[in-house]
Amino acid sequence: MEEKETKKVIGLMSGTSCDSIDAGLCEVNPDMSVKLIQGINYSYPEHIRTKLFAAFRGDISIKELCQLNFAVGKCFANAANLLIEEFGKPDLISSHGQTVYHYPYDEKLDNISLKSTLQIGDSSVIAKSTGCAVISNFREADIALGGQGAPLVCFADEKWFKNSLVQNIGGISNVTVISDDCETFGFDTGCGNIMIDYCTQKFFGQKYDKDGEISASGNICESWLDCLLQDEYYFLEPPKTTGREYFSYKYIENILKTAPAEPADIITTLTALSAKTIAQAYERFVYPYVHTDTVIIGGGGAYNKTMMKFLRSYLPRRIELKTHEDYGISNNFKEVMAFALLGYCSYYGIPDNIPSCTGAKKRTVLGKITC
Ligand SMILES: Nc1ncnc2c1ncn2[C@@H]1O[C@H](COP(=O)(O)OP(=O)(O)O)[C@@H](O)[C@H]1O
Ligand SMILES: [Mg+2]
Repeated sequence: MEEKETKKVIGLMSGTSCDSIDAGLCEVNPDMSVKLIQGINYSYPEHIRTKLFAAFRGDISIKELCQLNFAVGKCFANAANLLIEEFGKPDLISSHGQTVYHYPYDEKLDNISLKSTLQIGDSSVIAKSTGCAVISNFREADIALGGQGAPLVCFADEKWFKNSLVQNIGGISNVTVISDDCETFGFDTGCGNIMIDYCTQKFFGQKYDKDGEISASGNICESWLDCLLQDEYYFLEPPKTTGREYFSYKYIENILKTAPAEPADIITTLTALSAKTIAQAYERFVYPYVHTDTVIIGGGGAYNKTMMKFLRSYLPRRIELKTHEDYGISNNFKEVMAFALLGYCSYYGIPDNIPSCTGAKKRTVLGKITC
């Protein structure tokens, strides 16, 4: 195997929230540590973002999906080029792409599994527009080995943290459990911000509940919260992952039929739901197996003060609640740094999935390389 060296890697990522393309120039070291040199949040042009949301609703044609794959690739390249203009070319670009569909269920057609995932943002468009080699399409190899193709960030969490629960609160929330007591495992705990964002847009005309201000002004409707907590996803055993396909607009419109009358109370209760599903997931699937005293929050939800307050109140007192920033890692660019590490490992042929997180049959090198 080639001797490992420190490499400059631009990580590119846009999550289920579709709030921005996060681009981070990173220095990735042979000891698997990653230093963020510069990160930017690059907004999708408005009409592209609107089309992506139409794609999430299943409201676009195959023709539009085909176009969007290239257009999103161009947007990712534009984000990378802003960093390249300032810092020069990296050794490698590692692009997660934009998930438009994730289907982690083992349904069969003609006895062939339909388990699948689709991240768009064509890698050739990124490679040709930047002049850099691109590693992309990380999730497919894990699914081809029977896994769910997610969560993948666990690989980085395991390298960077010890004896803690690393909780990301993005559109969807996911946890990585790192402990001396067992193999690292992880799963999606449920919805993070998808429902909050949808309702903040619907009732307040804002993209998200900035700093949790709206949710701080309302009350939790306990009976509605109890009802929402009965969803079967929260009771499924890990490994498990979810996405917008499940917590869809239809799903949200359906739960809104029984929502409290006051819009602020809706936002407050959905914020409590995100916090409580995290706390309950630990009670059901983590505390019985692992002793832990530390939870480290990342992702956009870490900036929602009401969400953090609710989480504090739902977690046992012994748990110390921290954010990635307490460890010198930006909440905003953590996933980009993780994908920079995954790209680095794939480049060197180092297996970078964790079967105890994804359910894959074995470890494998993820991703495809485009020169
Ligand atoms: N200052 C903030 N206050 C409240 N919520 C925030 C803030 N910043 C980001 N968020 C929430 O986090 C989401 C984006 O989080 P992110 O980790 O990027 O998720 P994803 O990986 O799904 O894109 C936004 O859509 C918003 O709901
Ligand atoms: Mg995001």
